[in-house]
Amino acid sequence: MNVLLDADTIQARVRELAVEIESDYPDGEDIHLVGVLKGGFVFMADLVRAMTPRVSLDFIAVSSYAKSTKSSGEVRLLKDLDFGLQGRHVIIVEDIVDTGLTLTYLQDILRARSPKTLRTACLLSKPSRRQVDVAVEYIGFTIEDRFVVGYGLDYAERYRNLSYIAVLDEE
Ligand code: IMP
Ligand code: MG
Repeated sequence: MNVLLDADTIQARVRELAVEIESDYPDGEDIHLVGVLKGGFVFMADLVRAMTPRVSLDFIAVSSYAKSTKSSGEVRLLKDLDFGLQGRHVIIVEDIVDTGLTLTYLQDILRARSPKTLRTACLLSKPSRRQVDVAVEYIGFTIEDRFVVGYGLDYAERYRNLSYIAVLDEE
């Protein structure tokens, strides 16, 4: 496996994002992060630990229907949130924005729950793969169209535990 982003590079960028995010919201107003399982869990864990106690969090789980063979972009909700979003500053925290279909779906269903504001943070973005124009306010790194694993991202449920991001050899 070729390392694309090492652990120190990722940690430094996540800390920058935490500072940028906090400075974008009025002092004293809480920020509610919605982590997207499973891929977003590592990014979420590091991001919240780089933030001050004004942050609260929740998780949602989705899965795409047979993404490799079908480009319908149908997304299935596997686990809903524990808490409502009404009147909150909500940020969706996701591992990667690829075609953009998953995030478009998530933004649509979460916006319907009347958050005060709704933004999205993704550790990675592959803009060359985009099928729909989706707003992502916070992006850690923009990468080429390569299949990557680690730091939450998997290949067949493996490699999520790597502290770095690598390109899979098997491509
Ligand atoms: P989208 O709906 O195409 O934007 O899909 C985003 C989802 O696809 C992410 O949450 C990942 O689970 C998965 N994904 C996209 N690219 C990669 C990759 O390079 N490695 C691992 N998972 C990926
Ligand atoms: Mg995912």
